[in-house]
Amino acid sequence: MNNKVIIITGGSSGIGKALALQYGLLGARVVITGRNKEKLQETTVQLQKAGISIVGIPCDSSLEKEIRLMVDQVKKQFGQIDLLINNAGISMRSMFEEVSIDVLKTVMDINFWGTVYATQAALPYLKESKGGIIGISSIAGYRGLPVRTGYSASKFAMNGFLEALRTELLHSGVHVLIACPGFTASNIRNSSLNAEGNITGETMREEDKMMSADEVASKIIQAYQQKKKTLIMTFQGKLTVFLNKWMNGLMDTLVYNSLKKERNSPLK
Ligand SMILES: NC(=O)c1ccc[n+]([C@@H]2O[C@H](COP(=O)([O-])OP(=O)(O)OC[C@H]3O[C@@H](n4cnc5c(N)ncnc54)[C@H](OP(=O)(O)O)[C@@H]3O)[C@@H](O)[C@H]2O)c1
Repeated sequence: MNNKVIIITGGSSGIGKALALQYGLLGARVVITGRNKEKLQETTVQLQKAGISIVGIPCDSSLEKEIRLMVDQVKKQFGQIDLLINNAGISMRSMFEEVSIDVLKTVMDINFWGTVYATQAALPYLKESKGGIIGISSIAGYRGLPVRTGYSASKFAMNGFLEALRTELLHSGVHVLIACPGFTASNIRNSSLNAEGNITGETMREEDKMMSADEVASKIIQAYQQKKKTLIMTFQGKLTVFLNKWMNGLMDTLVYNSLKKERNSPLK
């Protein structure tokens, strides 16, 4: 990846930040985005101090115009784009019956539409460089999770979009990887939206028992290097995808019971 130009949407925290550091240490020139300018600046400076080439561009993935401007700015500044990592994402936590539909729209706007906007803006440049696209999806894109209807829907939509696009790009030289982490220690649960669309500010799971963002990043980098099409992570994630394919009915009960154990779960 030496000297390659990589855009990572939502790179100021968690998996995106870990990918930025690891790709940077491999010699790539990295661009990260995020909505919170201070957090983005803090991460950029921190990673520059680690000795990598990195630029932070404030950009909200749910806004098509901002995404297009960001992508064009990167192309102008660096002359090429080799890899787009659609990582920016948020989650939600509420029973469907109680949630404001706007919450589901916000989650779709960032997770799904953000992926679509960035991918279309970068595609001509990725074709030029015969580069690639990585979508950071989720096990929730294979198996719907209760209390996270909007999140699951956004990740199923990402998977369908990227699989179709991968097929469309079969002879273009552009590689597409759909990466599906299992539960990963990060800020995603703290920043998830409640029924009214407010940030919950708390996690309902044991973050220290999850895969680390660093481990997730190195698995993604390896899978992309090996030109894998999909990457399913964690033992629990692999088991969930397997059982869901062959024992779909039983999985409703297993998933319900598992999610019911989360702190303050609204499942009865
Ligand atoms: N952690 C997990 O358990 C897990 C499991 C499976 C998949 N994933 C996926 O991994 C990806 C990264 O999540 P993470 O766990 O690393 O969470 P995180 O620590 O909360 O990081 C999310 C990043 O996305 C940015 N972001 C959020 N909304 C954005 C927007 N509208 N525009 C631009 N940037 C935005 C955040 O910065 P700002 O808030 O400043 O915008 C932050 O940099 C997500 O797509 C998530 O769905 C996570």
